[in-house]
Amino acid sequence: MTIEYRVADLSLAEAGRHQIRLAEHEMPGLMALRAEFADSQPLAGARIAGSLHMTVQTAVLIETLTSLGAEVRWASCNIFSTQDEAAAAVVVGSGSVEEPAGVPVFAWKNESLEDYWWTATQILTWPGRTDGAGPNMILDDGGDATMLVHKGAEFEALGAVPAAPQEGDADYSHEYAIFLDTLRSTLESEPRKWTDIAAGIKGVTEETTTGVHRLYQLAAQGKLLFPAINVNDSVTKSKFDNKYGIRHSLPDGLNRATDVLIGGKVAVVCGYGDVGKGAAEALRGQGARVVVTEIDPICALQAVMDGYQVAALESVLAQGDIFITTTGNKDVILAAHMARMKHQAIVGNIGHFDNEIDLAGLARIPGIERIEIKPQVHEWVIPADGAEGVEEHSVIMLSEGRLLNLGNATGHPSFVMSNSFANQTIAQIELYTKSGQEDAEGNREYGNEVYVLPKILDEKVARLHLDALGVELTELTKAQAEYLDIDVAGPYKSDQYRY
Ligand code: NAI
Repeated sequence: MTIEYRVADLSLAEAGRHQIRLAEHEMPGLMALRAEFADSQPLAGARIAGSLHMTVQTAVLIETLTSLGAEVRWASCNIFSTQDEAAAAVVVGSGSVEEPAGVPVFAWKNESLEDYWWTATQILTWPGRTDGAGPNMILDDGGDATMLVHKGAEFEALGAVPAAPQEGDADYSHEYAIFLDTLRSTLESEPRKWTDIAAGIKGVTEETTTGVHRLYQLAAQGKLLFPAINVNDSVTKSKFDNKYGIRHSLPDGLNRATDVLIGGKVAVVCGYGDVGKGAAEALRGQGARVVVTEIDPICALQAVMDGYQVAALESVLAQGDIFITTTGNKDVILAAHMARMKHQAIVGNIGHFDNEIDLAGLARIPGIERIEIKPQVHEWVIPADGAEGVEEHSVIMLSEGRLLNLGNATGHPSFVMSNSFANQTIAQIELYTKSGQEDAEGNREYGNEVYVLPKILDEKVARLHLDALGVELTELTKAQAEYLDIDVAGPYKSDQYRY
């Protein structure tokens, strides 16, 4: 059977397969789940639309889902994050370059925005089915696939896609305009496409802070069309991937992009949440003098207690050599900020969306010039401005303001992603097998709300990773367990515990 796909180059599959093989050894959580569920095949019948950075680690996740019985279609959730060799290897699967027999993947490094929304549409369309059904599960990172289904269904109910704000309007967004164009064309050809797809979906499992934020907004407005599991807030996800993953992949991205010595430099980290903590620690580890900016007094206090200077961005513009946004918020570094930075200051974002840095505003500075140093590294030369007293200088922008650890490097390493993706796999099994079911008391197990996995499963994910690192875990005695009023087998903490 021929499979559909669009990737950069299938001849990269062998190189990708070697990397996947090494990654499997570093992903004990996923491999343990493959072994545990090999016979029971809990995902048999699942049709999963996956929208998550198409890296080597994601390849191991995809092949874990298929080994548990799922059919999968995959796209990346970012235009720059695909590792082309991983995408090729997943498509080829157990087949050959001439006759690929793996999973339909629609992802390549350096997609256009039009391509991006086309790939998102491809994973949500399930050809070859006579009943017209689409996927019955979504695995999302950042919430774009979920948004496509929700907005599509919303506009179908209205019978029209609203006009996009025009260039020059304050709320104009090129990205959003292209997204609306995608929906306009589906509405013309298939007026109930997204409504039907939404009706068939049992649930979504969401990977990251930004996507989870979108889900809680939909749920609060009563607009969530299917149940969701917030994978991000499993402790073994956000306190590991967001922190230790960033601690590894931020310097990797900076080094591959610029090879500038980090030691001795002033590095400004905007945001001191989980990602900001990992970023600040990594930069300090390289000998940078780190300054943190925060809006939340608790996180600001944490940063200063951890030994970082905490300052307003405006106060350190002239000192900073490296500026990294980690907030998940918009408009954090504006054009006016970049106009006042040092010559060759490096500016990058590691939060999910590119709206943390006002690249459009930068491009609008009169007389500004953009020079490509290499793909995903651009020098923006800002001309002298007599009125402001600014001398001609440039800023080095990484990955066009998109998450630089995946645009300039290859994202987080396998071991930490094994924790995140073990949570994803368990969450997929949980929703696929239980969504729509009723418990013993006749209550629906999962309604159209956002859930987190029970702590016992979070602890299970951690446990799956201990042996590989030679950890000796202390076992509670029965008397100690009674004293603490917990079970010897866990869970060991209350849901309020913050780690
Ligand atoms: P978080 O909510 O723990 O941290 C964000 C912090 O930024 C908060 O402490 C908040 O108070 C602060 N903040 C918000 N607006 C600010 C502003 N204007 N100036 C300074 N600080 C501000 O979120 P988390 O988990 O750290 O995630 C941050 C972003 O990174 C999200 O978009 C998330 O999706 C993304 N992410 C990216 C990863 C990657 O591989 N690049 C991995 C994991 C998460």
